[in-house]
Amino acid sequence: MPIIRDAIESDLPAILAITNEAIANTTAVWNNTPATLEARTAWMRERQARGFPVLVATDGGKVLGFASFGDFRPFEGYLHTVEHSIYVAPEAQGRGVGKALLAALVERARALGKHVIVGGIEAGNTASIALHTRAGFVETGRLPEVGQKFGRWLDLVFMQRML
Ligand SMILES: CC(C)(COP(=O)(O)OP(=O)(O)OC[C@H]1O[C@@H](n2cnc3c(N)ncnc32)[C@H](O)[C@@H]1OP(=O)(O)O)[C@@H](O)C(=O)NCCC(=O)NCCS
Repeated sequence: MPIIRDAIESDLPAILAITNEAIANTTAVWNNTPATLEARTAWMRERQARGFPVLVATDGGKVLGFASFGDFRPFEGYLHTVEHSIYVAPEAQGRGVGKALLAALVERARALGKHVIVGGIEAGNTASIALHTRAGFVETGRLPEVGQKFGRWLDLVFMQRML
């Protein structure tokens, strides 16, 4: 089983590589432009400075995946809701890494006194929908054709779990 721990700056090259693989080849992230080490570093510092987790799953010292959450929407009324993301390297998928990261995020969100954790998932992402369904998330919203990638429209599904 992977070890789940808070990310440190030396994890950032692996986090960047996993991010950029997902940008290049998947509809998990609706960007076409590769991320940079500077942008990922700034993102992690900002999350951690605000008390939000950035977690990595490691095995034998190798980073297999990462996960985080932050504001759902940046308005005071949404203070008790967080939106999360999870990425597992292709060669490590299907071995329980995503499940372990998601369970750790739920625990962190509870510990911070959050009330709801929500994920925005591309409707065709069967692995992510299966992961979240198994973890007790339910679909609470579906927005048709709000995004585009690889020359086609994408539907966004929101899945949430009460904490
Ligand atoms: C989605 C993702 C995070 C899942 O992580 P993972 O480590 O591969 O998933 P796990 O091995 O922990 O599986 C968790 C559960 O989901 C199920 N599952 C995972 N992939 C599946 C698939 N392709 N089809 C059906 N079920 C699947 C597993 O069977 C498991 O259920 P179980 O606990 O009942 O056995 C991973 O595939 C990934 O990083 N994909 C690319 C990026 C991405 O899509 N991120 C999510 C953006 S919303």
